[in-house]
Amino acid sequence: MDFYHVLETRRSIRKYKSTPVEPDKLERILEAVRIAPSAANRQPCHFIVVTDEAVRRSLTRAYSRDWFAAAPVVICACAEPDEAWVRMDKKNYADVDVTIAFEHLVLAAAAEGLATCWIAAFDPAELRKALGLPDGIEPLAMTPVGYPDEAPRAFVRKPLAEIVHRERW
Ligand SMILES: Cc1cc2nc3c(=O)[nH]c(=O)nc-3n(C[C@H](O)[C@H](O)[C@H](O)COP(=O)(O)O)c2cc1C
Repeated sequence: MDFYHVLETRRSIRKYKSTPVEPDKLERILEAVRIAPSAANRQPCHFIVVTDEAVRRSLTRAYSRDWFAAAPVVICACAEPDEAWVRMDKKNYADVDVTIAFEHLVLAAAAEGLATCWIAAFDPAELRKALGLPDGIEPLAMTPVGYPDEAPRAFVRKPLAEIVHRERW
């Protein structure tokens, strides 16, 4: 699929079919994650791929919506801040690196005809328990991956003139 077409057709989907995701599609999506750039190439990212139904259901203790756990695959993106590049003012770039890799995932899924939805409004303590995350690993976002069972909503975005500043603020 043309890259710009992917950008225009990707939308957050909150209703999924139970149709399984083809393993080759999932592998290509994970490869897109692997090749994402990161600050100083430190790659402080981990991705937990959940297909087991019982584990997927357990994730609703962290985010109490049924629609995301109904998808055949849920992927949780985690940061490992101790592995990340740190700027001179002590800003740690782990979250930025994970965000970039996660958006690679989302766009690759769209290119494969699959739907996703960024989820950040979860209870991190409950998610840590459900996924058995060790100390030093921070969950940043998760997404269902599967075939959409609803029509995408229209884009609602600010006009370009409100967000683009030319030469100076
Ligand atoms: C960082 C981030 C966190 C988000 N968290 C949630 C969430 O917890 N639950 C949810 O339903 N959607 C979540 N979304 C999806 C946004 O609501 C959605 O991207 C936005 O409304 C634009 O719609 P679109 O993705 O269909 O273009 C999140 C999106 C981003 C980028």
